[in-house]
Amino acid sequence: MTSSQSYAVFGASGFGREVMPLLRQQLQARGVPPLDLVFVDDAAQPAVVNGHRAMTYAQWLAEPAGERFITIAIAYSVVRQKLVERCRADGVQFVEVRASNVVQLDECELGEGAILCPFVTLTSNIKIGRHFHANIYSYVAHDCIIGDYVTLAPSVKCNGNVFIEDHAYIGTGAILKQGKPGEPLIIGKGAVVGMGAVVTKSVPPGVTVIGNPAKLMNK
Ligand SMILES: CC(C)(COP(=O)(O)OP(=O)(O)OC[C@H]1O[C@@H](n2cnc3c(N)ncnc32)[C@H](O)[C@@H]1OP(=O)(O)O)[C@@H](O)C(=O)NCCC(=O)NCCS
Repeated sequence: MTSSQSYAVFGASGFGREVMPLLRQQLQARGVPPLDLVFVDDAAQPAVVNGHRAMTYAQWLAEPAGERFITIAIAYSVVRQKLVERCRADGVQFVEVRASNVVQLDECELGEGAILCPFVTLTSNIKIGRHFHANIYSYVAHDCIIGDYVTLAPSVKCNGNVFIEDHAYIGTGAILKQGKPGEPLIIGKGAVVGMGAVVTKSVPPGVTVIGNPAKLMNK
């Protein structure tokens, strides 16, 4: 048994390749000695991606390491949760990835395993669940409550007093109108807000909304 630490990014697709340099810079800034930081992806043939080895999860587990840390860079939240459960069962720990220019103000609670991309801002008095993804330039304002496995695509504007329930996905550039204290605007569990939507009213669980003002998408 070795006492070494092994770090990985789960997912070598577009988002994973955006997350890898953030994790690398974060570990360097913390003074963690140079590591063999790898991509884990079950679709991967053993290969090198952007200078990092890529391998399947089973191959990663088979490599000697004292402690293993991973970030799940998979935007689809249902798959993200499955991978989290698989990793936890194998004793793998989760590393938060946070770009160096992320702004976080007062009393902001964040669950394990978040990925906060460059230019993300979390203001004050916010509660966010586990394995949250906030892509580039997104913000979450005061008094918001966000569940587990929520995904904000790039440039989401989540204004104050908005509650976003578990597994909701908010598309690029969407704007969520502020709620009121005690009367939040709610994005329901598993709902999808399309890119560019302007959400002025609460969205029920499981539906997709698009447009300005956002309406149910007819499929
Ligand atoms: C809303 C969304 C989930 C719908 O996806 P989908 O079911 O695959 O929809 P389709 O692409 O088949 O489009 C169906 C119709 O809705 C329209 N449409 C799709 N998304 C739309 C949106 N956000 N706003 C307005 N119209 C939209 C399409 O133009 C198409 O119209 P048509 O039938 O007249 O041709 C998706 O378009 C979206 O907005 N996803 C978020 C993308 C994103 O932010 N990605 C970030 C990557 S980091």
